[in-house]
Amino acid sequence: MDIGIDKIGFYVPKDYIDIVELAKARDVDPDKFTIGIGQDKQAVPQPYQDAVTMAASAADSILNSEDKQAIGLMIVGTESSIDESKSTAAFLMDLLDLPEDIRAYEIKQACYGATAGLQAAYDFVSLNPGKKALVIASDIARYGIKTPGEVTQGAGSVAMLIGEDPRVVKLDHKSVYMTRNVGDFWRPTFSKVAFARGKFSNQVYVDFFNTLWDKYQAKYDVTADDFKTMLFHIPYTKMGTKALRTLEDKLSPEKYAELTANYQESIKFSREVGNLYTGSLYLGLLSYLVNAAKANEKLLFFSYGSGAVGEIFSGEIQPGFEKVIDKKALQAVIDNRQKMSISDYEKMYQIEYQDGTIVDPTAVDAEFYLSEIKENERLYKKNK
Ligand code: HMG
Repeated sequence: MDIGIDKIGFYVPKDYIDIVELAKARDVDPDKFTIGIGQDKQAVPQPYQDAVTMAASAADSILNSEDKQAIGLMIVGTESSIDESKSTAAFLMDLLDLPEDIRAYEIKQACYGATAGLQAAYDFVSLNPGKKALVIASDIARYGIKTPGEVTQGAGSVAMLIGEDPRVVKLDHKSVYMTRNVGDFWRPTFSKVAFARGKFSNQVYVDFFNTLWDKYQAKYDVTADDFKTMLFHIPYTKMGTKALRTLEDKLSPEKYAELTANYQESIKFSREVGNLYTGSLYLGLLSYLVNAAKANEKLLFFSYGSGAVGEIFSGEIQPGFEKVIDKKALQAVIDNRQKMSISDYEKMYQIEYQDGTIVDPTAVDAEFYLSEIKENERLYKKNK
């Protein structure tokens, strides 16, 4: 049975800051941020947006009523959860108008969460012929104003419908994975912002990629020549470049040039949005599908979540994928946004809604929003 991604869509907040303006405000050479880090814009969520509202928007962009009846499993990968008990997935049942015979839960393992969800979805579909699984990655990446990580913030959500005879990417059920207890990045429950040993985290990321790539080649007797494109978890776009560069001496100049050129196509969206945490790898897939992908291309995926878990797996772009991927609509999610000034972003960063907050719906510019906090319970609404 062929299983994989049958539909894929995403959501990013409608406000962004310009990275050159951020560099100037921080008294940094803009080239450091645009070339050294590799970012152009950064998505900024409104206080009425969170992992729930963004997940709802991404899923709503791909689901029709037939899909909803077929879903038997819904997993949200997130490290920006709004509740220590109730899962982000449970909130989505009403917002997406889903039937209740669904197993719904949340997975947390930093930026690896959605990949864990994708693999669980694969298993679920293979054991339940005819059923579908909804996997959503949803996060807000926050390091704090004037921190080294600030330039690598971002926000957004990616939703994928996993099913039999997939129309976008067939997953070929080949993967290698590893886990190590590493202190490269963490966010204690009391903190809204993450802490990172930045340069150490880069080293661990590259080490995981190299270790897993060696394992993958040995296990399946393949080389880079068997793949058209390598897609990376993209915390900032220079990170994947650093991992890819470690292969330069091992590959023919032609192969390295091809992988590098295709990597550039996969980071176009990330340059505009920033880190989506667990959605970043899949935002790279979306960017590649919109900008360069061709039917039957073999893709290698490198998923990395600090802490740390890594996995390399593979898949194949399906003939006719263009009929399912609405390139114009996906590009419009990136293009139809407005710039926010650095001073407005700094002011908004400090806003934290407390119990008793009621959000004025006329001031909301999003499909789904946090409408109220009542008895410390967060309540959500769909914008009419
Ligand atoms: P930093 O200390 O500000 O930057 O931190 P730097 O001094 O390392 O410079 C960055 C690059 O800019 C360097 O290039 C400089 O040479 C270059 P590199 O050596 O890396 O190739 N540069 C310039 N280039 C052009 N013109 C100039 C110029 N000046 C300098 N004038 C860091 C950067 C990424 C460490 C920081 O932003 C950070 O801590 N970010 C957060 C952590 C992170 O994103 N880590 C990535 C790996 S871990 C991961 O991916 C997991 C994660 O997504 C979390 C999860 O799993 O949930 C983060």
